[in-house]
Amino acid sequence: MTSSAPVFVASARGRDALASPIRRLTPYADAAKARGILVHHLNIGQPDIATPRVVIDAYRNYDDKVLAYGPSEGLPAYRQALAAYYNSLGAAEGGPALTAKDILITVGGSEALSFAIGATCDIGDEVLVAEPYYPNYKGYSHILGVHTRAITTHAEDGFRLHPEQVAAAIGPRTRLVLISSPGNPTGAVMSAEDLRAIAQICHSRGVFLLADEVYRDFVYDGSATTAPSLLAQPGFAENALIVDSVSKRYSACGARIGCLVTRNADVYAAALKFAQTRLSAPVVDQLAAMAALQTPAEELRSAIADYKRRRDVLCAGLNQIPGVRAQVPAGAFYLVVELPVADADAFCIYLLKDFSYQGETVMLAPADGFYATPGLGLNQVRAAYVLEVPKLERAVQILSLALASYPGEKSC
Ligand SMILES: Cc1ncc(COP(=O)(O)O)c(C=O)c1O
Repeated sequence: MTSSAPVFVASARGRDALASPIRRLTPYADAAKARGILVHHLNIGQPDIATPRVVIDAYRNYDDKVLAYGPSEGLPAYRQALAAYYNSLGAAEGGPALTAKDILITVGGSEALSFAIGATCDIGDEVLVAEPYYPNYKGYSHILGVHTRAITTHAEDGFRLHPEQVAAAIGPRTRLVLISSPGNPTGAVMSAEDLRAIAQICHSRGVFLLADEVYRDFVYDGSATTAPSLLAQPGFAENALIVDSVSKRYSACGARIGCLVTRNADVYAAALKFAQTRLSAPVVDQLAAMAALQTPAEELRSAIADYKRRRDVLCAGLNQIPGVRAQVPAGAFYLVVELPVADADAFCIYLLKDFSYQGETVMLAPADGFYATPGLGLNQVRAAYVLEVPKLERAVQILSLALASYPGEKSC
């Protein structure tokens, strides 16, 4: 009698999960660094701007004897302080003010995304999202057994998501429309009219609207109307949700604090059960995040002005390279760049594996991983302008030389 040995393999869900297009090429970068090459990281949205002093001080000043669990929904004082912040952004205009009970503190905006998708969609349901999109939208949906359906937006059109596209794409299994404005990876900022029109369409079709606003403050030309003002409208109170985070606003990605904002008591109760399953968000980080609300407005303004300068330098430099096209984005700190190569993925590997200039190279994120539709984004990369201006200038110079020497297939 033959007995076959047991086989231990990961689940199909695990095997089918997406590798992050932002981090996928890290082994090549690590190998380049091991060879002594300096890698300029334009691939990842890790801001280099100093975290506000009030945040760092809050960590230093923690001295309770026991570092205990916090409430699953977050520290009451922090939730109250956040309610006041959203009310100051318009959430209370023409309607009841938001209160702590509308706010659930999460482990980064990431957990808020997964809670929001899980609390609104069942297995087999569908999330609609504009492509190119933040890949973790698909990552979390995949873990939860939810399909993502992409609506394609185009560089020539400033990556605008048209309300009519949303209306046409909503199908029988659509439960949620997920918008990211200012957007990652495009930097596109949705107009007040489009935001309202999309919210209206979602409402009339019985679909939730989730606004991912982790880049809310990063708007460079004029100001944007943001989702808190939607929550003030009686009609949208039931179907509009917001995901937020301290990561980008306060240059505090390692704090791992975000939140889910919703007036929908049913959705909140569902998300709270998910939160109870993971017990508590980190307590000291919540205290630091609460302190972050005291960041002097001037400090935030100066960070935004810095990003704007970086954006302008990077776009101007990129557009001077023959064959490169970079539309100036209105917000966030990313842009999608079209390169004169047939396979941007291969070019990004070339940059890390085969190319260096005076001991330096550049890491970019191939953009095909930001699209769901096969064949899109093949000649595009996402660049993040989270480095100081001289480093961005150097990165542009390196990129220009690498493109000139690239032996791979060029695009026409
Ligand atoms: C669009 C978008 N949403 C959500 C997140 C999640 O951020 P965090 O979990 O650090 O709050 C990110 C991070 O880069 C992002 O780009």
